[in-house]
Amino acid sequence: MKLVLPFVLPFVLSLFVSFSCTKKMNPNEIRIGQFASMTGSEATFGISTDEGIRLFLDEVNQKGGVKGKKIKLITMDNQGKPEEAAAVATRLIEQEKVLALLGEVASSRSLAAAPIAQLKKIPMISPSSTNPKVTEVGDYIFRVCFIDPFQGRVMARFANENLKLKKVAILRDLKSDYSIGLADFFVATHKEYGGSVVADLSYQSGDVDFKAQLTQIKSQLPDALYIPGYYTEVGLIARQAREVGLKAILMGGDGWDSEKLFEIGGESIEGAYFSNHYSNESTLPEVINFVQAYKAKYQKVPDGLAAQGYDAAGVLIKAISEAKDFTTKSIREELAKIKNYQGVTGMITIDQNRNAMKSAVVVQVSGKINKYVTTINP
Ligand code: PHE
Repeated sequence: MKLVLPFVLPFVLSLFVSFSCTKKMNPNEIRIGQFASMTGSEATFGISTDEGIRLFLDEVNQKGGVKGKKIKLITMDNQGKPEEAAAVATRLIEQEKVLALLGEVASSRSLAAAPIAQLKKIPMISPSSTNPKVTEVGDYIFRVCFIDPFQGRVMARFANENLKLKKVAILRDLKSDYSIGLADFFVATHKEYGGSVVADLSYQSGDVDFKAQLTQIKSQLPDALYIPGYYTEVGLIARQAREVGLKAILMGGDGWDSEKLFEIGGESIEGAYFSNHYSNESTLPEVINFVQAYKAKYQKVPDGLAAQGYDAAGVLIKAISEAKDFTTKSIREELAKIKNYQGVTGMITIDQNRNAMKSAVVVQVSGKINKYVTTINP
């Protein structure tokens, strides 16, 4: 028996897999897939986005669904790994037979999955990947956020015009397409303002010791340190920056947006600035309603990712409602036509490159709250 089991088991498993592949889909539901970092060092990105998407879809289903069909969301965890993002996107398309994909947050993971969606002609909407290359993959790939040439300019402009900072240092994550791109875009605008870059150093996601780079940066006496990374590393970098005695103002981008940032960075991150997609302090009626509904459902305030998830779902549902049939081609065509969609993160118009042109906000870390500072328009 012991000898037989290793041979029988794969057979039984393959039966199970082929059974699940051919499982009958309910014709009265619309299946949408989401691939997200539900675990790992960027888990709050996936969890917040998932919550935002579900909030929107629940509202749609409560009103009877779309064209008489209920929406079913299938979320798969990619653990924050690009190779897993590609694997689960394939599973969502081939086994779960989804009509469209929502995801990812991190640009590197969107870039890993987008070629698959494009090849299979499944519309994919990234809620918050900001690297320009994501939508360049093909005509089935969309996003509902601004892109990094703009985001980098926003922060460089804020540093120069509002804070009058001249000497900046950069610390970028070499494993992240987002981080590398955003650092470059920030530097380009900063130089246009006549500012100087006194150090441009790097780390890799997963690193925990940044003291060598920070000591070198400190010796160059920068006014500011720009860290276009994700919250786990940024929190640690902030702590160690203060430990080595670096006093520069800390600045970053949307990747800082997490309730965990202050938990990890503590007092060291206090007062730092970052660019983001929205502020939950906005007094727009859409935002007030959204914040209220989200709080009622999840007992917490929505971050930018939750808001972007909510809007990504909204744009997709609008396209499905307006499509002449349920083919992915018709849905893609409607996505390309989205104009002046009033989302909670602003007005969304999909341009000819399938990106959204939107304003950005600058916020300042103030304990667990990110205080609204200013809005910058494209
Ligand atoms: N814009 C980041 C990227 O492209 C992802 C991100 C968006 C992270 C919003 C946090 C908040 O990788």
